Amino acid sequence: MTQAAATADRADAYSIPLDRINVADPALFRDNMMWPYFERLRKEDPVHYCNDSQYGPYWSVTRFKDIMSVETNHKVFSSASRSGGITIMDNNAAASLPMFIAMDPPKHDVQRKTVTPIVAPENLAKLEGLIRQRTQNALDALPAGETFNWVERVSINLTAQMLATLFGFPFEDRTKLTHWSDVTTCELGTCGVETEEQRIKEIQECGAYMTKLFNERANSDPQPDLLSMLAHSENTRNMSPEEFMGNMVLLIVGGNDTTRNSMSGGLLALNENPEEYRKLCADPTLIPSMVSEIIRWQTPLAHMRRTALEDFELGGKQIKKGDKVVMWYVSGNRDGDEIENADRFIIDRANPRHHLSFGFGIHRCVGNRLAEMQLRVLWEETLKRWPKPGQIEVVGEPRRVFSTFVKGFEALPVRINA
Ligand code: HEM
Repeated sequence: MTQAAATADRADAYSIPLDRINVADPALFRDNMMWPYFERLRKEDPVHYCNDSQYGPYWSVTRFKDIMSVETNHKVFSSASRSGGITIMDNNAAASLPMFIAMDPPKHDVQRKTVTPIVAPENLAKLEGLIRQRTQNALDALPAGETFNWVERVSINLTAQMLATLFGFPFEDRTKLTHWSDVTTCELGTCGVETEEQRIKEIQECGAYMTKLFNERANSDPQPDLLSMLAHSENTRNMSPEEFMGNMVLLIVGGNDTTRNSMSGGLLALNENPEEYRKLCADPTLIPSMVSEIIRWQTPLAHMRRTALEDFELGGKQIKKGDKVVMWYVSGNRDGDEIENADRFIIDRANPRHHLSFGFGIHRCVGNRLAEMQLRVLWEETLKRWPKPGQIEVVGEPRRVFSTFVKGFEALPVRINA
C-alpha cells in the first residue's frame, strides 16, 4: 500500500458515519486496509453493531478485554454449529459436519480430550525430528539468486509436510491435505469448487481416504500419529462416520492456513522491520519469542464467531439472544490498552505469548504448541543456512487472501541472496 493510499483510507475510516462501518468486507482484508477501521472502532465504539452486511447483521467486538469476556463465557456465547457456527459466514456444507470446535460442552470437552495427547510435549518431541528433517529438505531445495513464491515453496509445502507427519499420512500424497483444507474454507468459485455439491463430493473423497488409513491403523500396533491415536482411544474408536469426518476436517483445516500464513507473515514482518531482522541474526536465541510475536502480528485467523444464547450486556451494549457476535482477534491483538506498542513488531517483547491469535477459554487452539514448534524449527534451520540480515529478501508486493476469516497470503515474491 502506498503512503497516499494509506492516508486516503484512514480519512475514509474516520469520515463515514460510525453506524455505516462494516469491517467484514473481504476486500478490506485483501487490500490490507482494515486497520484504521478497527482503530476507530476500538476508540469510539468498541462493541459495534452492523445491521447490514453480506453476512447479515452482526456485532463486532474489537478490544482485547471484551474479546476475553466473550471467549470465557461459553454458557452465553455458543460455538455450536446448530446456533450458526464459528465464522461470520453461516455454516457451509463442510463446516457443518460435527466437529468439536463447533460444539459446546459437554460433548466438546470429551472429544477435545482425545486429541490433546497427540500434541502433548512428549509426543511433539517425538515428531520434531521428522519435522526438522523434512524442513531441512525443503529449504535445501530452494533456488538461490532467483525470485520464487515463498508461500508456495515454503509455507504451503512445509505445512502440508507437518500435517502429513502429524497424521502419519502417505508423504507422496500430502498435497491432498492442502487441497481438502482449501476446499473446506474457500469462498465458492475461488478454489476450483463452484457449488456446495462439489464441495461435499471432495470432502467425501477425503473421508474415504482417511477411513481407509484409520482402519489400517486400528488393525496394527499403536503409533504416535493422530490416526493411530484416534483408532486406539476408547472415546474415538467408535465415532460415527460424520463425526470422524468432522474431526478430520477440523484437524486438517486447523493446522493448515494458520501455520502456513504465519510462515509467510513472519518473513514479511522481518523484511518490513530490518532492525528486528538484524536483532534476530545477532541473537538466534530470540527465535521462540519471535515466533510468538509473529503469530500475534499475523493473527492468521482474523476472527471467531459466537452466537448469544441469551440477552447479555457487553461494553454497555445490549446483545440479544440469537445475535451473531464476532470477536476480531486481529483488532484485539493491536489494542494498545492491553499490549504495549501493539502497533509495532518487536521480536524480544516481554510476555510475547500474551495475544489472542489462538483464542482463549475452552476452545483455545489445541495445536498451538505444534504450530510454535514448526515455526521455531523453520527459523532455526533458515538461520543456519542464511544467517545474514536481509538475506531472504521480499522483492515485491504480497498478494493477500480475499477473506475476513483466513488472514494470509497467496503470494510473496522472495529472493535468497548469497
Ligand atoms: C482452535 C488458531 C494451529 C488445531 C483454534 C482457534 C483458533 C486457532 C483461533 C479457536 C479458538 C477459539 O474459538 O477460542 C490457530 C493458529 C494456529 C493454529 C493461529 C497457528 C499459528 C493449529 C494446528 C492445529 C490446530 C497446527 C493441529 C493440527 C486446532 C483445533 C482447534 C483449534 C483442533 C479446536 C479447539 C477446540 O475447539 O477446543 N485454533 N491454530 N491449530 N485449533 Fe488452531
